Amino acid sequence: MTLQIIQNPLEKPTFWSIPESSLTASQLADKTATLKQRLLDITARFSDVRFATSLAAEDMVITDAIAQSKTNIQLFTLATGRLHQETVDMAKTTEDHYGLPIQKVYPEDADVEAFIDQYGMNGFYDGEVAKKACCGARKIKPLNAALLGADAWLTGQRREQSTTRVELNFEEHDGARGITKFNPLFDWTEADIWAYIKQENAPIHPLHLKGYPSIGCEPCTRQVKKGEDIRAGRWWWLQSDSKECGLHINK
Ligand code: ADX
Ligand code: SF4
Repeated sequence: MTLQIIQNPLEKPTFWSIPESSLTASQLADKTATLKQRLLDITARFSDVRFATSLAAEDMVITDAIAQSKTNIQLFTLATGRLHQETVDMAKTTEDHYGLPIQKVYPEDADVEAFIDQYGMNGFYDGEVAKKACCGARKIKPLNAALLGADAWLTGQRREQSTTRVELNFEEHDGARGITKFNPLFDWTEADIWAYIKQENAPIHPLHLKGYPSIGCEPCTRQVKKGEDIRAGRWWWLQSDSKECGLHINK
């Protein structure tokens, strides 16, 4: 007789949830002061600085620090046309909360149509080539347009997020756009991010409360089980070294 393990359909999987932090108040104060100083240093060196926000937790920390430090950094978001409604709403929530405008950068209709014609609306599920083409049309080309004329740009990337980001630096040369790129949270942990958000009462993307540690486009993002890699829900059908959309390829 073979023993079958049947999963109880009523048993809900336990998803990732917002982590607790063991940072002391003074450690968090130091990190926060360093972050704000980084923003001040960047704006002292460059006049047209732009911040790419996905509206997820890391980007809310940077948004909050931009607002508090009153630095002249312009915010934009890549409105890919495939975002969750919660992300679209989060842009408005953030604008209202901080009184800061967020530029929505849309893909070109012709690029999206060319992708759909060749691969189908959800063709990215068929493999790496189609995924690259979709991200190219909906994210990379709009990112290039969003950064035209900028002197420097900021991202919310962290070293700890992925094996592809372990060598991330605070300052990099973005050779693809010929400008300087900054990752002001490069050395922050996931727990640091949430400690900051709780302390400053920053707006939280609603999907973070539903098991999503990392949020991208709706068809390419899913919840992550407790203990899984925090990017396991991004492009889950691809190998982990393909879990980048190309936004952060600097060459
Ligand atoms: S991705 O390359 O896998 O999509 P991830 O979601 O980890 O990136 O986000 C890393 C950083 O890329 C964010 O902190 C943000 O600076 C930028 N970014 C990602 N998605 C967007 C978006 N839709 N609009 C603007 N910036 C984004
Ligand atoms: Fe297209 Fe998915 Fe890339 Fe969004 S994340 S641009 S839907 S492949």
